[in-house]
Amino acid sequence: MVYDPATGSATADEAPGLPVLPTDRHTGCPFDPPAALTALSDRPVRLLRYADGHVGRLVTGHAAARAVLADPRFSSRYELLHLPMAMEGARGKLPQAPVGDIIGLDAPEHTRYRRLLAGRFTVRRMRQLAGRIERFTADCLDAMEQAGPTADLVEAFARPVPTLVICELLGVPYADRGRFLGLVEVIFDQAADAGVRDEAYAGLLRYVGELVLAKRADPTDDLLSDLAARGSASGSAPGSASGSASGPAPEPGSGDRVVSGLTDEELAGIGGLLLAAGLDTTANMLGLGAFALLANPGQLDALRADPDLAGPAAEELLRYLSVADPLLRSALEDVEVAGELIRAGETVTVSVQAANRDPRRFPGPDRLDIRRRATGHLSFGHGPHQCLGQQLARVEMTVALPALLARFPSLRLAVPPEEVPLRERSSIYGVVSLPVAWGEE
Ligand code: HEM
Repeated sequence: MVYDPATGSATADEAPGLPVLPTDRHTGCPFDPPAALTALSDRPVRLLRYADGHVGRLVTGHAAARAVLADPRFSSRYELLHLPMAMEGARGKLPQAPVGDIIGLDAPEHTRYRRLLAGRFTVRRMRQLAGRIERFTADCLDAMEQAGPTADLVEAFARPVPTLVICELLGVPYADRGRFLGLVEVIFDQAADAGVRDEAYAGLLRYVGELVLAKRADPTDDLLSDLAARGSASGSAPGSASGSASGPAPEPGSGDRVVSGLTDEELAGIGGLLLAAGLDTTANMLGLGAFALLANPGQLDALRADPDLAGPAAEELLRYLSVADPLLRSALEDVEVAGELIRAGETVTVSVQAANRDPRRFPGPDRLDIRRRATGHLSFGHGPHQCLGQQLARVEMTVALPALLARFPSLRLAVPPEEVPLRERSSIYGVVSLPVAWGEE
């Protein structure tokens, strides 16, 4: 294999025998990683061939994955990343992160936004939302019960609960969901053309942008209004709060308003990211999580019998299902991880699902066991980009799943497990629909 001195990365054709990222889950259990990925997990770090021929790395070991995600020598900037899987219309590389999309930024720009948002997502604040989440869940279960005794659990429960919650948190009218739910789904759809995905993202930003203008004019009691009104957790401009003057600032004379530190464009970008990141992830954890419990009756009975298992069960389902996968980074310099020298310029694909099934970290990893201590899983990522909404997602899961089981003691799948349609081509894994039934058979 040959290294390109210009980029420091290996060039393609020199290593034709290298594996590509396995994505096919068709064989075997729908909750398990692709068998071919498990076969590649014997070494924590290995070479991987990317969609455009780039030769980078695949990280499957838990310790190695944590090391990469915590290390600032690995960048999250989209424009440095090669894509491990082919995507319709994409040229193998991504454009720069749109304004406000903090997942694709590094420090200090990332730190600036992160500090601004972190105080709004504390454990205390999210637990305060638990009462509202109970109410939303009960409303959804009431409607499902009335329409029963069969339902699509995605339509009736897994999608509306997180949608209601994120709408409440951000101050987005639930009645507008027809304007953003479909767009969010397209944004994560790897089978959709890149142009279609970009247009969906632009549509989401337009929608949130309109909302931001309304919040500026007429603030309400929610996160978007709060950000619009105050700008930073300390009440000062975000640049000064982080000690950094860098980060996306409006061009002088660009016409974009700066109110309390965040421009309208930044606010729309942050709002759009929160809406997209908070919806599909949690919805699929509820849908796929319910499927995994229904397919494992022993675990389901244990959770139903002991409400104290709600927290550990949520953690174990997060580990076992790893819906947001993989995470990508680019090496900014040569770094040794697990005894392998990763070269500057190489894209690193961190397989969350493989790391969460690493037997060195989680004994018997392919067993769903809600009594195990699954803390330390990487389903919310790790390091500076670790999920901002994780406490909210945990509260949603610990409230909603037990409420579902308590309301429908005879809940069961209405189709054989192998007929449940799976979201195979989405960056967020899950079920397309989940037909269930209850009452007498
Ligand atoms: C079960 C549900 C969820 C899962 C599995 C999940 C997963 C993740 C993961 C893996 C990352 C790290 C990305 C990376 O390192 O490249 C992340 C980041 C993020 N998540 Fe979540 N997430 C969930 C729910 C939420 C919710 C409810 C919100 C907001 C309300 C949210 C907002 C964010 C944001 C803003 C980031 C970017 C953080 C940063 O770059 O500093 N997520 N999430």
